[in-house]
Amino acid sequence: MQKHITLGEYIIENQKDFQYSSGELSRLLSSIRLASKVVNHEVNKAGLVDILGAAGETNIQGENQQKLDVYANDVFMKTLVNREIVCGIASEEEDDYVIIEGKNRSHDNKYIVLIDPLDGSSNIDVNVSVGTIFSIYRRVTPIGNPVTKDDFLQPGNLQVAAGYVVYGTSTMLVYTTGFGVNGFTLNPATGTYYLSHPHMQFPDDGTIYSINEGYYVHFPQGVKDYLKYCQEEEGNRPYSARYIGSLVSDFHRNMIKGGIYMYPTSSKSPQGKLRLLYECNPIAFLAEQAGGKATDGYKRILEIKPTELHQRVPIFAGSKLMVDKLEEFMAKYP
Ligand code: AHG
Ligand code: MN
Ligand code: MN
Ligand code: MN
Repeated sequence: MQKHITLGEYIIENQKDFQYSSGELSRLLSSIRLASKVVNHEVNKAGLVDILGAAGETNIQGENQQKLDVYANDVFMKTLVNREIVCGIASEEEDDYVIIEGKNRSHDNKYIVLIDPLDGSSNIDVNVSVGTIFSIYRRVTPIGNPVTKDDFLQPGNLQVAAGYVVYGTSTMLVYTTGFGVNGFTLNPATGTYYLSHPHMQFPDDGTIYSINEGYYVHFPQGVKDYLKYCQEEEGNRPYSARYIGSLVSDFHRNMIKGGIYMYPTSSKSPQGKLRLLYECNPIAFLAEQAGGKATDGYKRILEIKPTELHQRVPIFAGSKLMVDKLEEFMAKYP
């Protein structure tokens, strides 16, 4: 078997990309790597442990938290807090951002993390793949003080790193630090991630579209027109409809095969459903780093100035030419 570099070796190798690096980002990525293995271990035997079903709480999103939502959130929060390598964390499953007080003055750390600990919760009980999404920024407030909301409301183009874990037929960790996108596959026998997908790139065009067509009647007219375009008999169309119900899994497949993921506004989600800070921004950073595109239908996701921690935006992300075509249809209805 070809010798693959491990994720740990790769992180150290890439530390050189950051001049005068203190190693903080490397330690932060390593803690995410560790937490993902702990969550993976539980996901892989979910039916045998008390981790399926609802936790009985509603999160700030108004969603019924699943036990695995809560478990994954606990694992990532505890790992990041105990290692005291970040000064603050925001999570889909936490009402507000969390200031890391820590005994060793965590306020001196320069990074913050925003996380969707378990993406695709509706898939948990039916054994369909789920994910974790993370986004890393440098704090903007002075080191030494507690973080403030300003540290979390940064536009996506200021991200230092972003990535996801996809707990699928195999478990992969895919991330970027602004120097391209690389995918690592977990060898469950050794608990080690190995570089399996170097320099991941979106095909410029594709023939897969991912959207929940159940909300069709409520979509903006530009989206309806684009869907009809996808379904017409012409050239390499009709395209294939593939929708897993987990952003990470749909995005990952489309990045490998070519495709577009869409979550538009609808009457049920007037601002869109996906959260800007810990779903759309990290996904958009990865999309662009892989030569793809990510917009809200009109402008780059990464240029949106956040105003709220859990704000939602519509997102269209994937192969550049497919997103361009979608925007053409949206532009007819400004
Ligand atoms: P989460 O499970 O983190 O709340 O995110 C679920 C998101 C996304 O992963 C998925 O594509 C989308 O919600 C599915 O929404 P619908 O069920 O409305 O299609
Ligand atoms: Mn999610
Ligand atoms: Mn989630
Ligand atoms: Mn959720």
